[in-house]
Amino acid sequence: MVKMDFGMKNRLSKTLNPKTGRTVMLAVDHGYFQGPTTGLKKPKESIEPLIPYADSLFITRGILRNCIDPNTNIPIFLRVSGGPSVLKELSNEEITTSIKEALRLNAVGVGMSIFVGGEHETKSISNLGKLVNEAEEYGMPVLAITAVGKDMDRDARYIGLACRIAAEIGAHMVKTYYCEEDFEKVVEGCPVPIVIAGGKKIPEKDALQMAHDAISKGAKGVDMGRNIFQSDSPVGMIKAVRAIVQENKTVEEAYGIYESVKNGRYS
Ligand code: 5RP
Repeated sequence: MVKMDFGMKNRLSKTLNPKTGRTVMLAVDHGYFQGPTTGLKKPKESIEPLIPYADSLFITRGILRNCIDPNTNIPIFLRVSGGPSVLKELSNEEITTSIKEALRLNAVGVGMSIFVGGEHETKSISNLGKLVNEAEEYGMPVLAITAVGKDMDRDARYIGLACRIAAEIGAHMVKTYYCEEDFEKVVEGCPVPIVIAGGKKIPEKDALQMAHDAISKGAKGVDMGRNIFQSDSPVGMIKAVRAIVQENKTVEEAYGIYESVKNGRYS
């Protein structure tokens, strides 16, 4: 591992728990291209109850400024890319938020998407390089998100390619999708910590199984959104995910936590 300076290490330690080396990031940035997504139509109401169980929030500056109490202690990872809406070619993103702004907002990291195989692949990867160049001047970690193009298979070959490219260009962490077959090879081929996105809403037990399998194959945590905030018990779900990631609970044990919170037997 590359020797990092204090600021970089210290910021990373705010989300990657130093005791476990793992993290539960709560992804709530979806509105940056999807608008008022199901489960985030009222961001403040949806996000606030989940904050005590997250290691960090992955969020845009607009929702941070308008919907999150500045007295909070939750570490902030700022989504700094965007441009196209869900109606347009998604790979055509630019950097939308400066490092100066990230520092002003007291972020512990910044994140942007790359679109390997997408129409604007080169631009997104080159933007990642530029963001890393600038962020490293201030000891600010960069999370690269391997967004999947419309026609891309989410298999280990593709995901492994995208994660490795992100790390080669200098990302300090990578967020990607989980694949059942050979995910451990994706992890092996990527020299920086990988966290998984949850993807579209699936049954709670399946999402917990996915988190469990990803961790057992070497992921350092999750940056999960819809499978938490679109659950019928978002607090139950984030507690269950946390139990897997930070406490090594089994899927059955974690599902029990989710059900207990949902049924009001566990606070
Ligand atoms: C959107 C993102 C999301 O943060 C990421 O996809 C995680 O959320 P989910 O678990 O809902 O997939 O980067 O582009």
